[in-house]
Amino acid sequence: MSSPKAPEAQPSAAASPPRPTTSPPHPATSSPAAGISPGNAELQMLNLPEMAIEAEAVSPYPLHVYLCVYAPADLGPCSSHPRIAILPMVTTFWRKPGYPPSCDAKCSSRISYRFENGRRYHGFKSDANYMMPNDEEENDRLDLFHHIQTLRLGGELHLAPIGNEPGRVLDVGTGTGIWAIDMGDKYPTADILGNDISPVQPSLVPPNVKFEVDDVEDEWVYSTKFDYIHVRYLACTIRDWPKLVGQCFKFVKPGGWVEFFDYDTYFYTSAGGEYNEDSPIYSWVQNLREGLRKFGVEPDPGPKLEGWVRDAGFTNINTRALPFPVGTWPKDKMLKEAGAFDLYNFMDNVEGHSMRLFTMAHGWTADEVKVMAANVRKAWKNPRLRIQHNGYVIWAQKPLDAAD
Ligand SMILES: C[S@@+](CC[C@H](N)C(=O)[O-])C[C@H]1O[C@@H](n2cnc3c(N)ncnc32)[C@H](O)[C@@H]1O
Repeated sequence: MSSPKAPEAQPSAAASPPRPTTSPPHPATSSPAAGISPGNAELQMLNLPEMAIEAEAVSPYPLHVYLCVYAPADLGPCSSHPRIAILPMVTTFWRKPGYPPSCDAKCSSRISYRFENGRRYHGFKSDANYMMPNDEEENDRLDLFHHIQTLRLGGELHLAPIGNEPGRVLDVGTGTGIWAIDMGDKYPTADILGNDISPVQPSLVPPNVKFEVDDVEDEWVYSTKFDYIHVRYLACTIRDWPKLVGQCFKFVKPGGWVEFFDYDTYFYTSAGGEYNEDSPIYSWVQNLREGLRKFGVEPDPGPKLEGWVRDAGFTNINTRALPFPVGTWPKDKMLKEAGAFDLYNFMDNVEGHSMRLFTMAHGWTADEVKVMAANVRKAWKNPRLRIQHNGYVIWAQKPLDAAD
């Protein structure tokens, strides 16, 4: 039995795992009802691992501080977000005061959603091969992952040296728009535009932030160039990365900056953990990667971005590879907190990230996906996995003498 280690030394692809035949109960169906008070008791009711409970203890802020900082003090449990009652420390910080979620109210006649197997997906440009849902559950997860990514940047929203007045900013594939909104708050003089194939962004946002629906793989048609273009977490999303990076080059001003923050789908252990090729997590990732490739989507852009950025013509290229632990196993306090949240992230996204992809690419039934997801969630709960994945931040500049 070999153990997956660093991303560059990946073991060869394993055969597809046998399909599960029995259906264990989905944790969501045994969740406590919304409205109960937060605390360890609820985590125990969910039968989450010890590390989940520990996550509450390792957070540098007590629960009520999260509530004060990120949500109105009188918000209380939210009926449309049952998980608030389950994981209050995680779920209450994702919306800032004044920016309530509004995705369900935002369907315009131009945009229709698709519903499959209990999840909602984008409807615009149905030929775009984005396989992840865009419902509240997924959007809450994206906001949680924003917090994890910000933690890994030491609390920063970016690493490019864009100064205090970054000017015209584009956030490509903005998701819930949480990064764009935070940027709008931080830089009131900036003019921030976020685009996405799904119109799931809130409408009550800072006055300098705007969103539009667009397929970023189409030709861009902006009449004014940007001072800074930000592209984050589009792994498992984009088919033609060199084209996307080339469009960033074309639409950033000479002297302007681009920043990419992305991932690959490799998990590894470098701390004597139990993660290995026999793990259901390993099989899940193999199937994810193979399924995406069937649709021409790049699952692993992170380590390739530096080359694409160089090929596009950018200079002053900076790269930082950041390990993302999953679970509370690291000793470092910040990594422990990021790992605790990332554990929730992966517990949450297995089914959402697999349902459409595995049914379409591998011909699985919805029940087979649910059983697989239950097994993977169970595997995540093993605190001895000591598992991690890598994020890659690349920031670079368009040469001043480049043709505008
Ligand atoms: C994993 S999410 C990341 C969201 C955001 N960048 C963040 O860091 O939170 C990927 C986003 O890309 C969007 N997306 C996928 N394909 C797209 C396309 N062809 N054009 C525009 N947006 C797309 C999805 O709707 C989703 O919001």
